[in-house]
Amino acid sequence: MNIFFYATYSNHKEFLNTLKKKFRNDKIYTVNDNVDLSKIDVAMVWNLPEKIFNKLINLKAIFSIGAGVDHVLKLSNVNKLPIIRVKDPNMRIRMYNHVLSQILTFQLKLKIYYEAQRKRIWLNERYTPLNNEITVGIIGLGYIGNYVALKIKKLGYQVIGFKRTKPTNSSSFLIYYNKSLNNFIKNSDVIVSILPDTKNTKNFINSKFLKKMKKNSLLINIGRGSAVNELDLIKYSKKNPNFYASLDVFNKEPLPKNHKYWGINNITITPHVAAITDHDSSINYLYKKFLIFKKNKKIKSDVNLKIGY
Ligand code: OXD
Repeated sequence: MNIFFYATYSNHKEFLNTLKKKFRNDKIYTVNDNVDLSKIDVAMVWNLPEKIFNKLINLKAIFSIGAGVDHVLKLSNVNKLPIIRVKDPNMRIRMYNHVLSQILTFQLKLKIYYEAQRKRIWLNERYTPLNNEITVGIIGLGYIGNYVALKIKKLGYQVIGFKRTKPTNSSSFLIYYNKSLNNFIKNSDVIVSILPDTKNTKNFINSKFLKKMKKNSLLINIGRGSAVNELDLIKYSKKNPNFYASLDVFNKEPLPKNHKYWGINNITITPHVAAITDHDSSINYLYKKFLIFKKNKKIKSDVNLKIGY
């Protein structure tokens, strides 16, 4: 089969080399090859430009080389194609590590000590809550969110979740849904958003949401930047010094140098690294899916176009 690879990763060359080794029985092309794009069967991409996509007129499937598919759904007329996204166990372990690091930083007040160290201040002892005194609320209970929730729970934290619709499966932690969002927010000391970018999640975390959060609380966003209303968060963070936000994803990435977030002490910024794409394991996943597609000549899409992820 003919595969077209395109990615805006800084290390896309290494990714491509690993991909070529794994898919050695198939042909992989890039924009640097002089290839007739109408001969391409499968695209493996991250942020494929529309003008290239439009030339892939005989494409049969599109594989996102990351977990998110928002970059694929932005392409027009993509809805007729099956879309596959990476479900990588290593990615969710990394996400869990990142979330845990941010919870512990908040719980142990480490930011306050880092700040004091810079000013050479020996701070008096401060109370730090134990794990079971902290309720962690997770929004976005998919492949990654559910895993993070269960691992955090194993450490003795209280865990709750929120879903838009009534959960269909039983869960080992309480899941709020639909109109009970306020109770979910009010009961959480830490809220972790792993929401994808869809029309329903845009600005989901806005000033109304933030005002309901506990005064001493932490918001972690590792899903997509669009879920947070940036202006509302800036205003809220400035007014509430005991509120913390840890942001890994942003509306515009890289975060522009003049963005207000950079100058706000109670906002932590990480550059979309909560779970970097693990080349070997994500390519193994793509390969397994590709073999199914090659054998059956069709594949079930991972994406429900109605809900947008
Ligand atoms: C992804 C991401 O979706 O890195 O894989 O955000």
